[in-house]
Amino acid sequence: MKKKINICYEAYSALSELPDADRLLVERAQQSAKDAYAPYSKFHVGAAVLLDDDTVVTGNNQENAAYPSGLCAERVAVFYALASHPKAEIAAIAIAAFSDDSQLKTPPFPCGACRQVLAEYEYRQKKPIRFIFHAQSGKTVVMEGVDNLLPFPFVSGG
Ligand code: THU
Repeated sequence: MKKKINICYEAYSALSELPDADRLLVERAQQSAKDAYAPYSKFHVGAAVLLDDDTVVTGNNQENAAYPSGLCAERVAVFYALASHPKAEIAAIAIAAFSDDSQLKTPPFPCGACRQVLAEYEYRQKKPIRFIFHAQSGKTVVMEGVDNLLPFPFVSGG
């Protein structure tokens, strides 16, 4: 039997088109990207996590000379958020990136490992997370719920 999965997202072409709350969160992510430690890839990613009590926790990619030892911005941000606010729920996450080498046209969609991590936190809180991915060019993708990002997650014992 052939099945189809639909994913839903909103697409914007400029930051100014976004709802205020999303735009403000993107600006926090952009700010955080400036603090990334990315001397190897020169690809600076910032993530801003909005918690249900309106706290915003930010994180950015942290690289290492032993490449796999580094960590993506999304995981730095959500691990930090949940480590310091263990009872909090994640309302939204904005991701922004810039490269020292070129103007990025594609929104910084998370890598597979980050999607798996984001999925687990959404399942744990049983409430969809709003995701906002913003490219330097202005192109922005917004989606509600991790199923739109990772339709077939790994589920232990599932
Ligand atoms: N990176 C992120 O921070 N998030 C992702 O989802 C993918 C990639 C970082 C890892 C590395 O420091 C740089 O971007 C280039 O891959």
